[in-house]
Amino acid sequence: MGSGTTLVETKLLGRNAVGVDINPQSVSISETNLQFQCDTNSKIFTRNGNATDLHFIKDSHIDFICTHPPYADIIKYSKDIEGDISRLGAEQFLEEMDKVANEAYRVLKKGKMCAVMIGDVRKGGKVIPLGFRMMECFLRTGFTNKEIIIKEQHNCKSTDYWEKQKNNFLLLAHEYVFVFEK
Ligand SMILES: C[S@@+](CC[C@H](N)C(=O)[O-])C[C@H]1O[C@@H](n2cnc3c(N)ncnc32)[C@H](O)[C@@H]1O
Repeated sequence: MGSGTTLVETKLLGRNAVGVDINPQSVSISETNLQFQCDTNSKIFTRNGNATDLHFIKDSHIDFICTHPPYADIIKYSKDIEGDISRLGAEQFLEEMDKVANEAYRVLKKGKMCAVMIGDVRKGGKVIPLGFRMMECFLRTGFTNKEIIIKEQHNCKSTDYWEKQKNNFLLLAHEYVFVFEK
C-alpha cells in the first residue's frame, strides 16, 4: 500500500480491492488518503500483513495484482518491523520476493495479470540489476512475461542531473513495470 496510491486509483475506478502492507503506519496513512467522496461504489479492504503470506485470500480468487515492493534496502520503510523487506540486502530481499511471487501466483485467477514496479540499485559503485533478478522470481513461480515497461523516474536526487544531459544515454534513471500473466 505505501501511502495508498493504488487504492486511491482503485476507488476512482470503482473497483474492489484488498491492500496489504507490513507497516501499520502505511495502513493508517492509506486509510486517511481513501477518505474522499467519489461517485463510484467500491469495496476496499486494508490489511496489516506480510505479502509473503496471503492466507486470508483463497486460491485463484483475484483478478489483478498491482504491487510496488521496496527496492531492497535503498529506502528503509521501518527500523524494526519484522517482515519488512526494506530492511534486507539484495540477496535476502530476493529470497522473500520468491515467497511473494508464490503467493501472488496462488491467489491470482488463471489468465489474469500481476504488475510489479521495481528499479535497479547501485551498491559500492556496482549496479545490481534488481529488476531483472526479481523478474526471475516471478518466472520461476510459473508466471510468463506479458510486458516489460520502462518508466522514467522523476523527483529523485539524480533527476536534475539526467534532465540536463544532452545525449540519449540514461543510466539508472528508470524503473520497470513488469506485467506477468498467470
Ligand atoms: C515502494 S513502497 C510502496 C509505495 C506505494 N506504491 C505508494 O504509492 O505509496 C513499499 C512498501 O512495501 C511495504 N513492505 C515492506 N515489506 C513488506 C512485506 N513483507 N509485506 C507487505 N508490505 C511490505 C513497505 O512498508 C512500503 O510501504
